Amino acid sequence: MLVYAISLEKGGTGKSSVAVNLAVALQIRGRQVLLIDLDAQGHASHWLGVNPHQTRPEDSVLGMIRGRPLAESTIDTEWGVGIVPANPEMAGLPMALASAPNNGLFALRSAITQLARQGARYDTIICDLPPARSPILATALAAATRCVAPIQPESLVLQALSDLSQSVTYAQQVNPALPLVSILRNRYAPRSAVDLVYDEELRTAYGRQLLQTIIPVRAAIRESAGFQQSVFRYPGADAGEVRGLFRQLADELLILDGGN
Ligand SMILES: Nc1ncnc2c1ncn2[C@@H]1O[C@H](COP(=O)(O)OP(=O)(O)O)[C@@H](O)[C@H]1O
Ligand SMILES: [Mg+2]
Repeated sequence: MLVYAISLEKGGTGKSSVAVNLAVALQIRGRQVLLIDLDAQGHASHWLGVNPHQTRPEDSVLGMIRGRPLAESTIDTEWGVGIVPANPEMAGLPMALASAPNNGLFALRSAITQLARQGARYDTIICDLPPARSPILATALAAATRCVAPIQPESLVLQALSDLSQSVTYAQQVNPALPLVSILRNRYAPRSAVDLVYDEELRTAYGRQLLQTIIPVRAAIRESAGFQQSVFRYPGADAGEVRGLFRQLADELLILDGGN
């Protein structure tokens, strides 16, 4: 089972966009993908066609924390990707985790193990995370086989990346197989001299963790989200290029993870 945690403790860097489009790219590539929406805002759910306001709290990870099997919460989307949707009551998720055994640290890991044992078709799980360091991140990292951070080379983002690296180091105590964060340059458009300085800093500090696939600023990513879609059926002008990049990202990750 491959479990990707798409994470960064800062908003707007492209986590939900990457989670959704990577999920569809992996599905097209032949993987059986389940997206678990761990962000109460529910953007990934929306973009896969599920309105979080029309779900029940127990159908979200809130149910999972109370012991409900994930298999009972998955919804099949029109994209072929399954989803455990968000629900607005997930605003209380950090508290729900705090009152679970071990602060809910192993809640997701146990639920995924159970899902596999029950013979569910999924072989790839993508967790879309909220932009905060919280028990939710710890729970996801305890279950993850890889953490992918979408970033732009900017000061605050690099700080968030450093915080996330620290969180991964902590998580390795309970999940020793978790590799260092894989860094995806998204909305990438280094133009000014300052951009180039941060870009260089990124290469120096994280060179071997940088994924080769780079996703530039592309209208199709923003617009397809506006139409509550992945880019895989979006007809916009640069959508074809973006689909190619997400397919390349899926291939790159599968090669890293021996998932061919
Ligand atoms: N490569 C990109 N090009 C253009 N717009 C992007 C790109 N990546 C993300 N966006 C847009 O930026 C905004 C924030 O992205 P989102 O995926 O919601 O970030 P996060 O989940 O990290 O908060 C969204 O409107 C999204 O459509
Ligand atoms: Mg998001």
